[in-house]
Amino acid sequence: MDRLFTPDQARQYVWKARIAGENIGIVPTMGALHEGHLSLVRESQKHCDVTIATIFVNPTQFAPHEDLQSYPRTLEQDCELLASHGASAVFIPEASMIYPAGFSTYVDPPEVGATLEGVCRPGHFRGVATVVLKLFQILPATHAFFGRKDYQQLKVIQAMVRDLNAGINVVPCDTVREPDGLALSSRNRYLSPEQRQIGLQISKALRIAKNLVDSGEVEVDRVQDAMRSELLGGGDASKAVDKIDYAVIVEADSLAPLEKIDRPAVALIAAFVGQTRLIDNAIL
Ligand code: PAJ
Repeated sequence: MDRLFTPDQARQYVWKARIAGENIGIVPTMGALHEGHLSLVRESQKHCDVTIATIFVNPTQFAPHEDLQSYPRTLEQDCELLASHGASAVFIPEASMIYPAGFSTYVDPPEVGATLEGVCRPGHFRGVATVVLKLFQILPATHAFFGRKDYQQLKVIQAMVRDLNAGINVVPCDTVREPDGLALSSRNRYLSPEQRQIGLQISKALRIAKNLVDSGEVEVDRVQDAMRSELLGGGDASKAVDKIDYAVIVEADSLAPLEKIDRPAVALIAAFVGQTRLIDNAIL
């Protein structure tokens, strides 16, 4: 597996493959790779001749009080995993390569990024949209693979690609979970065994929402109440998450609020377990 360190190396690598008529898939990540990330690599290999992962802990998408400094960094292990999963190359830039001195141009994220994460993490999607567009420029691939785990991020990227004619096929990929339901996340490694049990309330709350809707419930308020009550321990306060940022049902494409579930909808949760902020979702 080739290691690419500079934007010039990366662009040349992609252009060589494009001139050869190959499909090139990119899998943007912040590293600390797990099966969720690796499922995107596998999906890319289904569609593409060449798969390039990127590993970059993007400072502009973290607020000053967030976990940029402590974000898990496991580069050698990540590279071994990527190589053993057949990735062709990995792009591992230094921050100064992505944000050179004088850097001052940002992407104003689309409307779909204004709510939920956009409210709880002001500036987050501006950083995400900016770095993802930069990665699309540096690695002019044919396909890019993103997880539904970060549902709103996926919507932001799809809207940005449409609005700014990025000319790349965005391929959404399903969320990979532990057998007990916990969605895989690099941040799960912050959780103690007890906290991990509490984190399970999130996927349980989503399953409850899905079951209610599948059995005919259409009132958003009732389903949201059921999700909140599960997040607060479902009758066992020792299992309650520490803070709910949101637990909502919204329209699946625009993420606009809904009163009745009479069109495609998604349940989205963000909650803290201790200092760790977890997000998950279920398409209804
Ligand atoms: P990161 O959190 O490392 O996630 C990289 C990609 O892996 C994203 O597309 C995310 O949705 C996907 N992913 C994470 N957990 C997953 C799971 N359990 N199942 C399936 N896919 C999963 O998201 C980012 O990095 C960054 O914001 C990035 C897009 C790289 C921009 O910096």
